[in-house]
Amino acid sequence: MAVDEISVGGLGARVKRVEDDRLIRGKGNFTDDFKLPGMLHMEILRSPHAHARIVSVDTTKAWAIPGVHLVLTGELMAQRNLAWMPTLSYDTQAVLAMDKVRFQGQEVAAVVADDPYIAKDACEAIEVTYEPLPAIVNPMQAVAADAPLIRDDKDGQTDNVCYRWEVGDKAMTDRAFERAARVVKLDCFYPRSHPSPIECCGTIADFNPATAKLTLYMTTQAPHIIRTAVALVAELPEHMIRVIAPDIGGGFGNKVPVYPGYVVATLASILVGRPVKWIEDKTGNLISTGFARDMYFRGELAIDHRGKIEGLRIAVDTDNGAFFSDAQPTKFKVGLLHSAFACYDIPYGHLTSQGHYTNKAPGGVAYRCSFRVTEAMFFQERLIAAAAQDIGIDPAEFRRINFVRDFPWRTTYGMLLDSGDYDKCLTLALKKLGYEELRREQAEARKQGRYIGIGISTMTEPLGAGNSREFDIIGIKMFDSAELRVHPSGKAVLKIGSKTQGQGHETTFAQIVTHELGIPSTDILVHHGDTDNTPFGMGTYASRSTPTAGAATSMASRKVRAKARKLAAHLLEVSEDDLEWELGRFYVRDAPQRGATIQDCALAAYTNMPDGLEPGLENHAYYDPPNMTWPFAAYLAAVEIDPETGVWEVLRFVAVDDCGVRINPMIVEGQIMGGLAEAYAMSNMQFITFDSTGNCIGANYMDFLLPTAWETPKWELHEVVTPCPHHPIGAKGVGECATVGGPAAFVNAVMDALAPLGVRNIDMPVFSGRVWEAITQQHDVAGYPPLPGH
Ligand code: CDP
Repeated sequence: MAVDEISVGGLGARVKRVEDDRLIRGKGNFTDDFKLPGMLHMEILRSPHAHARIVSVDTTKAWAIPGVHLVLTGELMAQRNLAWMPTLSYDTQAVLAMDKVRFQGQEVAAVVADDPYIAKDACEAIEVTYEPLPAIVNPMQAVAADAPLIRDDKDGQTDNVCYRWEVGDKAMTDRAFERAARVVKLDCFYPRSHPSPIECCGTIADFNPATAKLTLYMTTQAPHIIRTAVALVAELPEHMIRVIAPDIGGGFGNKVPVYPGYVVATLASILVGRPVKWIEDKTGNLISTGFARDMYFRGELAIDHRGKIEGLRIAVDTDNGAFFSDAQPTKFKVGLLHSAFACYDIPYGHLTSQGHYTNKAPGGVAYRCSFRVTEAMFFQERLIAAAAQDIGIDPAEFRRINFVRDFPWRTTYGMLLDSGDYDKCLTLALKKLGYEELRREQAEARKQGRYIGIGISTMTEPLGAGNSREFDIIGIKMFDSAELRVHPSGKAVLKIGSKTQGQGHETTFAQIVTHELGIPSTDILVHHGDTDNTPFGMGTYASRSTPTAGAATSMASRKVRAKARKLAAHLLEVSEDDLEWELGRFYVRDAPQRGATIQDCALAAYTNMPDGLEPGLENHAYYDPPNMTWPFAAYLAAVEIDPETGVWEVLRFVAVDDCGVRINPMIVEGQIMGGLAEAYAMSNMQFITFDSTGNCIGANYMDFLLPTAWETPKWELHEVVTPCPHHPIGAKGVGECATVGGPAAFVNAVMDALAPLGVRNIDMPVFSGRVWEAITQQHDVAGYPPLPGH
């Protein structure tokens, strides 16, 4: 008899996360937990200025401090050709600054000492003389006529523009706008945000002078990419480099890039011949590592008299900081921003984008987002809401008129949608919220001077990069891998190319094997994050693990099953063609009681194989997905604003997610809840900005707030399932859907509450002060100072 899939922890089972056994008992092993024999500690000296020429760096006093082993400067790095490093967007970034500092917090020098406190003291003893320069803190300043040139290190760079990109059909879009019955416009700003994982970035670089092997323990979401990058830069063979990404305390995109600290620690270990540990502090993380968002949008929709959108224009200015180091696929200069409006049937669209160097930390990371998709979906849903408000149509109805309904579907900007049922998701969400009734309550409340608002956000986003035809990072094609080895006992070890940072891969990837082979998930150990022991993979970001490494896990399991069939035929003395498969067991078609379990086959693979069959039961798969997966979400927020203070409270929040087949519904729900909490924080709590001198405000957790259980609203979660047609088990990614789609639901709700006042936009974070200003002054509130020329 087939094993019962749910009881053995297969697809759809709400299996508790196996990794939690160690993580919630404080038994995890994070980079900072490792103590290697003879290990030294490194600290980094950061620039207090956002833009300044370096006149001199005097390290004499630092060298004199007892316990100091090494003081590193840009000059020393330059002697090893390591003063600059390549970025993931084909730019260069200073490792330790020599000529100028270009953002506050930039790495200027480093000290290696017996302990981190000595290293920190010695950093303070380094005397750097700066000659301050005017700072540029936004794109408008960057393109002003008198703007100082930030990247004067780059040959041929004459302005502060770092890229220009466009997509779509300009001529046809212009014609759609000429024909339009109505044109609706919206400008808005998605402020700088930060992934702010609880665990900061860090590494232990361990160069062994005896073997010349370099081992890097590192907080990285992509260990194999790091190893390849180090191999290419250092011209070392891969087997001389081992990258171990142990437990990671949250990544959210922040742990994808290569940071100067990694490079400096590596050189330090080579120079002193001992392991060197560098662990960033919280302010260092917030002011110098990969930020997210910081985009200025202008957009307009051409709408016909029935409410059908006929054309779309988007112009985006991005603030990329001092170095163009966005972690994104080579082809797309502004990530997958062109996924904007993918769920809507819009015949013509044109998108232009311009990137700017500014005196702020570089990064442009996809904070829990598939390469700038969060910004795309936020603007999409804000513009849709503003358009519905302007033309006087119900926002749910406006979406329904414009949803894509036939699949496959080529979007305005050229992406291919393959599945979904958007209307079904929205209809379910409206029903669960009691939309009609709430609209009536809202009308009644308005008569009493109460401000109730309902915000809708619907979106589909591309998750699971690649396919390799279109997606690569620094030339490395995007696919992923899995390797499955079944032991004689029928227990198994699965090694994957992706890297969990809290998403529960050790649990869910075992569940995929269970689904394919019937081996109980408790009998499967999942390995990840060690380049010496896992197959090559592109790591975890962009919710790509399930679409890529998850699919590879299925394919590897199926190869194992194909071999097990040969072993079963041998054990049962029948032809392979006479066998049927049911979960966990092959049986003889005409005599179903005669069967061999997968465990019987595993034992036979090592003890009783037929002549000519290779022993062992294992296989691997490299999976190159034919397309992204396209999950969909409908998020509905109901809020009430206190008109006296502008404080708004979430009354209800309904989320309907369609991420295809759910491997572990409990983990999916956890992913959605966490994502919504982050979305809520971005919409009204988190503020990271810069004064006119480039001084970062929001560089600690007193200013940049994380939501606790106290602030976080209650989520009401529901599901729709449209399986992904090309994924082996029909799954779509889900990890970031709620962070991507959530913010617009909150902002749209506040705007809906204020609609009678004629207020159309308040930029995030929608602080109570901004809401109060909008109520009392009856105008929009921009999130950036009005600047000349904008
Ligand atoms: O790449 P990342 O793990 O961040 O994102 P993901 O592939 O969307 O997966 C997040 C977590 O949800 C993983 O543990 C997945 O296996 C799980 N998941 C699931 O159970 N069912 C899905 N359809 C999608 C993800």
